[in-house]
Amino acid sequence: MAPALVDTVVHEQSTANFKSQAGQYKEAAFGGPKLYKKELELRGTGEHAPAKYPNYLPVWDFEKKYPPLESFEHYDHGKDADASFPNLLKDAKVADLTANIGAEVHGVQLSKLTDAGKDELALFVAQKKVVAFRNQDFADLPIQDALKIGGYFGRHHIHPTSGAPEGFPEVHLVHRGADDTTARDFFEERTNSITWHSDVTYEKQPPGTTFLYLLDGPAAGGDTLFANQAVAYQRLSPEFRKRLQGLKVVHSAVEQADNSRNRGGVVRREPVTSIHPLVRTHPVTGEKALYVNPQFSRRIVGFKKEESDFLLNFLYDHIAKGQDFQARVKWEAGTVVVWDNRVTAHSALLDWQDGARRHLARITPQAEAPFETPYEEHNSGAVGFEY
Ligand SMILES: [Fe+2]
Repeated sequence: MAPALVDTVVHEQSTANFKSQAGQYKEAAFGGPKLYKKELELRGTGEHAPAKYPNYLPVWDFEKKYPPLESFEHYDHGKDADASFPNLLKDAKVADLTANIGAEVHGVQLSKLTDAGKDELALFVAQKKVVAFRNQDFADLPIQDALKIGGYFGRHHIHPTSGAPEGFPEVHLVHRGADDTTARDFFEERTNSITWHSDVTYEKQPPGTTFLYLLDGPAAGGDTLFANQAVAYQRLSPEFRKRLQGLKVVHSAVEQADNSRNRGGVVRREPVTSIHPLVRTHPVTGEKALYVNPQFSRRIVGFKKEESDFLLNFLYDHIAKGQDFQARVKWEAGTVVVWDNRVTAHSALLDWQDGARRHLARITPQAEAPFETPYEEHNSGAVGFEY
Protein backbone atom coordinates (compact mmCIF):
# COMPACT_ATOMS: atom_id res chain seq x y z
CA MET A 1 0.00 0.00 0.00
CA ALA A 2 1.34 3.39 -0.97
CA PRO A 3 2.15 5.60 1.96
CA ALA A 4 -0.38 8.32 2.68
CA LEU A 5 0.70 11.84 1.87
CA VAL A 6 0.36 12.69 5.53
CA ASP A 7 1.32 9.81 7.69
CA THR A 8 0.91 9.77 11.44
CA VAL A 9 4.08 8.35 12.86
CA VAL A 10 3.93 7.37 16.49
CA HIS A 11 7.39 7.50 17.95
CA GLU A 12 8.07 5.37 20.95
CA GLN A 13 9.36 8.38 22.84
CA SER A 14 6.73 10.82 21.67
CA THR A 15 4.74 10.76 24.89
CA ALA A 16 7.72 10.53 27.23
CA ASN A 17 8.09 13.55 29.44
CA PHE A 18 11.34 15.15 30.32
CA LYS A 19 12.36 14.58 33.90
CA SER A 20 11.29 17.97 35.16
CA GLN A 21 7.85 17.68 33.51
CA ALA A 22 7.61 21.39 33.96
CA GLY A 23 6.68 22.49 30.48
CA GLN A 24 8.09 25.88 29.67
CA TYR A 25 9.52 26.37 33.13
CA LYS A 26 13.20 25.52 33.11
CA GLU A 27 15.05 25.12 36.33
CA ALA A 28 17.99 23.01 37.27
CA ALA A 29 16.53 19.69 38.33
CA PHE A 30 18.78 19.36 41.30
CA GLY A 31 18.73 20.22 44.96
CA GLY A 32 15.62 19.88 47.07
CA PRO A 33 14.74 17.60 49.94
CA LYS A 34 15.16 14.32 48.05
CA LEU A 35 18.83 14.93 47.39
CA TYR A 36 19.71 16.82 50.53
CA LYS A 37 22.12 15.07 52.88
CA LYS A 38 22.30 17.05 56.08
CA GLU A 39 25.04 14.93 57.65
CA LEU A 40 27.34 15.52 54.65
CA GLU A 41 26.69 19.24 54.88
CA LEU A 42 27.57 19.31 58.56
CA ARG A 43 30.48 16.90 58.42
CA GLY A 44 31.84 17.55 54.94
CA THR A 45 32.98 14.90 52.50
CA GLY A 46 36.38 13.53 51.51
CA GLU A 47 36.70 16.30 48.96
CA HIS A 48 34.59 19.12 50.33
CA ALA A 49 34.70 20.97 53.66
CA PRO A 50 31.64 21.23 55.92
CA ALA A 51 29.13 24.01 55.19
CA LYS A 52 30.55 27.36 56.33
CA TYR A 53 27.12 28.57 57.43
CA PRO A 54 25.22 25.63 58.97
CA ASN A 55 22.63 28.10 60.37
CA TYR A 56 21.62 28.70 56.74
CA LEU A 57 21.14 25.04 55.80
CA PRO A 58 17.67 24.37 54.37
CA VAL A 59 14.62 22.79 55.92
CA TRP A 60 11.38 22.23 54.02
CA ASP A 61 8.17 22.86 55.93
CA PHE A 62 5.90 20.25 54.36
CA GLU A 63 3.32 20.53 57.13
CA LYS A 64 2.74 24.25 56.91
CA LYS A 65 0.45 25.82 54.28
CA TYR A 66 0.74 29.54 53.72
CA PRO A 67 -2.33 31.65 52.84
CA PRO A 68 -2.49 33.67 49.59
CA LEU A 69 -0.48 36.89 49.69
CA GLU A 70 -2.45 40.02 50.42
CA SER A 71 -1.98 43.38 48.77
CA PHE A 72 -0.05 46.01 50.66
CA GLU A 73 0.98 49.59 50.08
CA HIS A 74 4.64 49.75 49.01
CA TYR A 75 6.71 52.83 49.60
CA ASP A 76 9.95 53.01 47.65
CA HIS A 77 12.64 54.65 49.75
CA GLY A 78 14.63 55.50 46.65
CA LYS A 79 12.27 58.50 46.40
CA ASP A 80 13.85 60.01 49.52
CA ALA A 81 17.45 59.49 48.43
CA ASP A 82 20.03 62.22 48.01
CA ALA A 83 21.15 61.53 44.44
CA SER A 84 24.74 62.51 45.24
CA PHE A 85 24.88 59.50 47.61
CA PRO A 86 26.73 61.22 50.52
CA ASN A 87 25.78 58.51 53.01
CA LEU A 88 26.18 55.43 50.85
CA LEU A 89 29.32 56.24 48.90
CA LYS A 90 31.38 58.59 51.07
CA ASP A 91 34.12 55.99 51.63
CA ALA A 92 33.37 53.85 48.61
CA LYS A 93 35.38 52.77 45.64
CA VAL A 94 32.97 52.22 42.76
CA ALA A 95 33.93 50.51 39.50
CA ASP A 96 31.40 50.03 36.75
CA LEU A 97 31.19 46.45 35.49
CA THR A 98 30.16 47.56 31.99
CA ALA A 99 29.18 50.81 30.29
CA ASN A 100 25.47 50.36 30.92
CA ILE A 101 24.84 47.83 33.65
CA GLY A 102 26.43 46.87 36.91
CA ALA A 103 28.93 48.16 39.46
CA GLU A 104 31.33 46.70 41.97
CA VAL A 105 31.71 48.52 45.26
CA HIS A 106 34.41 48.29 47.91
CA GLY A 107 34.54 50.25 51.15
CA VAL A 108 30.86 50.16 52.15
CA GLN A 109 29.45 47.97 54.92
CA LEU A 110 25.78 47.43 54.14
CA SER A 111 24.98 46.35 57.68
CA LYS A 112 26.13 49.77 58.99
CA LEU A 113 24.03 51.96 56.70
CA THR A 114 21.76 54.55 58.26
CA ASP A 115 18.25 54.89 56.89
CA ALA A 116 19.50 57.73 54.68
CA GLY A 117 22.18 55.36 53.38
CA LYS A 118 19.54 52.71 52.68
CA ASP A 119 17.43 55.25 50.78
CA GLU A 120 20.48 55.98 48.64
CA LEU A 121 21.12 52.26 48.19
CA ALA A 122 17.64 51.84 46.69
CA LEU A 123 18.27 54.65 44.19
CA PHE A 124 21.86 53.64 43.40
CA VAL A 125 20.79 50.08 42.65
CA ALA A 126 17.85 51.29 40.53
CA GLN A 127 20.36 53.29 38.47
CA LYS A 128 23.13 50.69 38.21
CA LYS A 129 20.63 47.80 38.03
CA VAL A 130 22.98 45.40 39.83
CA VAL A 131 25.74 46.12 42.35
CA ALA A 132 28.23 43.67 43.86
CA PHE A 133 29.26 44.81 47.33
CA ARG A 134 32.50 43.10 48.37
CA ASN A 135 33.81 42.23 51.86
CA GLN A 136 30.45 42.32 53.59
CA ASP A 137 29.66 40.92 57.04
CA PHE A 138 26.06 40.24 55.99
CA ALA A 139 26.35 36.43 56.07
CA ASP A 140 27.85 36.58 59.58
CA LEU A 141 24.98 38.59 61.06
CA PRO A 142 22.27 36.79 62.99
CA ILE A 143 19.68 35.93 60.33
CA GLN A 144 17.05 38.14 61.95
CA ASP A 145 19.41 41.15 61.64
CA ALA A 146 19.96 40.51 57.93
CA LEU A 147 16.19 40.27 57.50
CA LYS A 148 15.71 43.53 59.36
CA ILE A 149 17.97 45.34 56.88
CA GLY A 150 16.20 43.80 53.88
CA GLY A 151 12.79 44.53 55.39
CA TYR A 152 13.44 48.26 55.04
CA PHE A 153 12.95 47.90 51.29
CA GLY A 154 9.55 46.20 51.32
CA ARG A 155 7.53 43.35 52.75
CA HIS A 156 9.49 40.09 52.80
CA HIS A 157 8.42 37.62 50.17
CA ILE A 158 8.05 34.01 51.28
CA HIS A 159 8.91 31.82 48.33
CA PRO A 160 6.28 29.21 47.43
CA THR A 161 8.71 26.36 46.70
CA SER A 162 11.89 27.15 48.59
CA GLY A 163 13.77 25.52 51.41
CA ALA A 164 14.68 28.00 54.15
CA PRO A 165 16.84 28.22 57.26
CA GLU A 166 14.96 26.78 60.22
CA GLY A 167 12.58 29.44 61.58
CA PHE A 168 13.20 31.94 58.76
CA PRO A 169 10.82 31.21 55.87
CA GLU A 170 11.47 34.71 54.48
CA VAL A 171 14.97 33.66 53.43
CA HIS A 172 15.06 32.03 49.99
CA LEU A 173 17.95 29.58 49.71
CA VAL A 174 19.88 28.63 46.64
CA HIS A 175 21.56 25.44 47.79
CA ARG A 176 23.33 22.58 46.12
CA GLY A 177 25.09 20.33 48.58
CA ALA A 178 28.61 18.93 48.48
CA ASP A 179 28.99 15.86 46.26
CA ASP A 180 25.75 16.72 44.45
CA THR A 181 26.60 16.09 40.81
CA THR A 182 23.06 16.18 39.45
CA ALA A 183 24.00 19.04 37.13
CA ARG A 184 25.19 16.21 34.88
CA ASP A 185 21.63 14.86 34.74
CA PHE A 186 20.43 18.33 33.81
CA PHE A 187 22.79 18.47 30.85
CA GLU A 188 21.54 15.10 29.64
CA GLU A 189 18.29 16.88 28.78
CA ARG A 190 19.33 20.47 28.16
CA THR A 191 22.01 22.12 26.07
CA ASN A 192 22.57 24.98 28.49
CA SER A 193 21.46 26.22 31.87
CA ILE A 194 20.46 29.74 30.87
CA THR A 195 17.19 30.71 32.55
CA TRP A 196 16.60 34.44 32.08
CA HIS A 197 13.99 35.72 34.49
CA SER A 198 13.10 38.33 37.06
CA ASP A 199 12.15 36.80 40.37
CA VAL A 200 8.60 35.56 41.06
CA THR A 201 6.97 37.81 38.46
CA TYR A 202 3.75 35.83 38.92
CA GLU A 203 3.10 37.67 42.20
CA LYS A 204 0.74 40.67 42.15
CA GLN A 205 3.51 42.72 43.76
CA PRO A 206 6.82 41.26 42.59
CA PRO A 207 10.13 42.21 44.24
CA GLY A 208 12.16 45.40 43.77
CA THR A 209 15.46 45.91 45.59
CA THR A 210 16.73 42.36 46.17
CA PHE A 211 19.69 40.94 48.10
CA LEU A 212 21.62 37.74 47.38
CA TYR A 213 24.69 36.81 49.40
CA LEU A 214 27.22 34.05 49.12
CA LEU A 215 27.67 31.55 51.92
CA ASP A 216 29.66 28.84 50.12
CA GLY A 217 30.60 28.50 46.47
CA PRO A 218 32.76 26.66 43.96
CA ALA A 219 36.30 27.93 43.33
CA ALA A 220 35.27 28.78 39.76
CA GLY A 221 31.87 28.85 38.12
CA GLY A 222 28.39 29.63 39.35
CA ASP A 223 28.54 33.28 38.23
CA THR A 224 25.26 35.13 37.74
CA LEU A 225 24.25 36.92 34.53
CA PHE A 226 22.25 40.15 34.63
CA ALA A 227 20.52 42.00 31.78
CA ASN A 228 19.41 45.63 31.80
CA GLN A 229 15.76 45.40 30.76
CA ALA A 230 15.53 49.19 30.48
CA VAL A 231 18.25 49.31 27.83
CA ALA A 232 16.62 46.27 26.21
CA TYR A 233 13.48 48.42 25.92
CA GLN A 234 15.33 51.52 24.72
CA ARG A 235 17.07 49.57 21.96
CA LEU A 236 13.76 48.93 20.26
CA SER A 237 12.57 51.36 17.59
CA PRO A 238 10.02 54.03 18.53
CA GLU A 239 7.44 52.34 16.28
CA PHE A 240 7.99 48.99 17.96
CA ARG A 241 7.89 50.52 21.45
CA LYS A 242 4.59 52.18 20.51
CA ARG A 243 3.15 48.76 19.66
CA LEU A 244 4.25 47.37 23.02
CA GLN A 245 2.51 50.20 24.86
CA GLY A 246 -0.53 48.96 26.73
CA LEU A 247 0.10 45.24 26.20
CA LYS A 248 -0.49 43.00 29.19
CA VAL A 249 1.09 39.64 29.93
CA VAL A 250 -0.02 36.66 32.02
CA HIS A 251 2.62 35.38 34.45
CA SER A 252 2.20 31.96 36.04
CA ALA A 253 3.53 30.19 39.14
CA VAL A 254 1.88 26.90 38.14
CA GLU A 255 4.80 25.30 36.32
CA GLN A 256 7.25 26.15 39.10
CA ALA A 257 4.93 24.53 41.64
CA ASP A 258 4.55 21.43 39.41
CA ASN A 259 8.30 21.24 39.07
CA SER A 260 8.72 21.38 42.84
CA ARG A 261 6.09 18.68 43.42
CA ASN A 262 7.67 16.44 40.80
CA ARG A 263 10.99 16.70 42.59
CA GLY A 264 9.53 15.92 46.00
CA GLY A 265 9.72 19.55 47.08
CA VAL A 266 7.26 21.81 48.86
CA VAL A 267 4.43 23.95 47.55
CA ARG A 268 3.81 26.30 50.44
CA ARG A 269 1.20 28.43 48.76
CA GLU A 270 -1.19 27.56 45.98
CA PRO A 271 0.27 28.82 42.68
CA VAL A 272 -1.13 32.08 41.33
CA THR A 273 -1.20 33.91 38.01
CA SER A 274 -1.03 37.67 37.56
CA ILE A 275 -1.41 40.05 34.66
CA HIS A 276 1.25 42.75 34.36
CA PRO A 277 2.08 45.38 31.75
CA LEU A 278 4.64 44.18 29.22
CA VAL A 279 6.52 47.45 29.77
CA ARG A 280 6.74 48.72 33.33
CA THR A 281 7.82 52.06 34.69
CA HIS A 282 10.20 52.36 37.61
CA PRO A 283 8.51 54.33 40.41
CA VAL A 284 11.63 56.33 41.31
CA THR A 285 13.60 56.87 38.09
CA GLY A 286 10.63 56.93 35.70
CA GLU A 287 12.59 54.60 33.50
CA LYS A 288 10.70 52.05 31.42
CA ALA A 289 11.78 48.44 31.11
CA LEU A 290 10.63 45.27 29.43
CA TYR A 291 8.91 43.03 31.96
CA VAL A 292 8.71 39.61 30.36
CA ASN A 293 10.69 36.43 30.95
CA PRO A 294 10.49 32.87 29.65
CA GLN A 295 10.38 31.36 33.13
CA PHE A 296 7.06 32.88 34.19
CA SER A 297 5.49 34.90 31.34
CA ARG A 298 2.97 32.82 29.41
CA ARG A 299 0.94 34.87 26.94
CA ILE A 300 -0.02 38.33 25.85
CA VAL A 301 -3.60 39.16 26.74
CA GLY A 302 -5.84 39.49 23.66
CA PHE A 303 -3.31 38.01 21.22
CA LYS A 304 -3.83 34.64 19.56
CA LYS A 305 -1.38 31.98 20.69
CA GLU A 306 0.85 32.18 17.61
CA GLU A 307 0.93 35.97 17.78
CA SER A 308 1.76 35.91 21.47
CA ASP A 309 4.47 33.26 21.07
CA PHE A 310 5.96 35.18 18.16
CA LEU A 311 6.27 38.46 20.03
CA LEU A 312 7.33 36.97 23.36
CA ASN A 313 9.94 34.78 21.69
CA PHE A 314 11.32 37.79 19.84
CA LEU A 315 11.65 39.67 23.14
CA TYR A 316 13.23 36.68 24.95
CA ASP A 317 15.72 36.35 22.13
CA HIS A 318 16.45 40.08 22.14
CA ILE A 319 17.15 40.00 25.89
CA ALA A 320 19.18 36.77 25.79
CA LYS A 321 21.40 37.96 22.96
CA GLY A 322 21.94 41.44 24.37
CA GLN A 323 25.47 40.97 25.60
CA ASP A 324 25.84 44.70 25.10
CA PHE A 325 23.39 45.34 27.94
CA GLN A 326 24.41 42.45 30.17
CA ALA A 327 26.93 41.92 32.97
CA ARG A 328 28.38 38.83 34.54
CA VAL A 329 28.83 38.95 38.32
CA LYS A 330 31.48 36.81 39.95
CA TRP A 331 30.99 35.72 43.51
CA GLU A 332 33.59 35.94 46.26
CA ALA A 333 33.42 35.18 49.97
CA GLY A 334 31.70 38.21 51.56
CA THR A 335 29.90 39.32 48.41
CA VAL A 336 26.37 40.70 48.62
CA VAL A 337 24.75 41.40 45.26
CA VAL A 338 21.89 43.89 45.31
CA TRP A 339 19.78 44.33 42.19
CA ASP A 340 16.51 45.88 41.15
CA ASN A 341 14.26 43.05 39.99
CA ARG A 342 11.89 45.51 38.30
CA VAL A 343 14.32 46.59 35.61
CA THR A 344 16.61 43.58 35.23
CA ALA A 345 16.56 39.92 34.31
CA HIS A 346 19.14 37.43 35.53
CA SER A 347 20.25 33.86 35.01
CA ALA A 348 22.18 31.40 37.10
CA LEU A 349 24.93 29.39 35.42
CA LEU A 350 25.42 25.72 36.23
CA ASP A 351 28.84 25.40 34.75
CA TRP A 352 30.69 23.58 37.54
CA GLN A 353 30.24 19.84 37.84
CA ASP A 354 32.81 18.81 40.43
CA GLY A 355 30.35 18.46 43.28
CA ALA A 356 31.43 21.66 45.03
CA ARG A 357 28.79 23.09 47.34
CA ARG A 358 27.00 26.27 46.29
CA HIS A 359 24.96 27.98 48.96
CA LEU A 360 23.45 31.46 48.79
CA ALA A 361 20.67 33.27 50.61
CA ARG A 362 18.25 35.73 49.06
CA ILE A 363 16.23 38.41 50.80
CA THR A 364 13.42 39.45 48.51
CA PRO A 365 11.38 42.52 49.52
CA GLN A 366 8.21 42.91 47.47
CA ALA A 367 7.51 46.22 45.76
CA GLU A 368 4.59 47.92 44.01
CA ALA A 369 2.28 46.25 41.52
CA PRO A 370 3.87 46.88 38.09
CA PHE A 371 2.44 49.90 36.26
CA GLU A 372 3.05 51.62 32.95
CA THR A 373 3.09 55.36 32.26
CA PRO A 374 2.10 56.88 28.87
CA TYR A 375 4.32 56.41 25.83
CA GLU A 376 7.23 58.82 25.43
CA GLU A 377 9.42 58.98 22.36
CA HIS A 378 12.44 59.54 24.61
CA ASN A 379 12.54 57.70 27.87
CA SER A 380 16.13 58.22 28.86
CA GLY A 381 15.68 57.15 32.46
CA ALA A 382 18.55 56.69 34.84
CA VAL A 383 21.10 55.40 32.38
CA GLY A 384 21.14 58.52 30.30
CA PHE A 385 21.00 56.85 26.91
CA GLU A 386 18.76 58.16 24.20
CA TYR A 387 18.10 56.24 21.05
FE1 LIG B 1 16.25 34.37 40.33
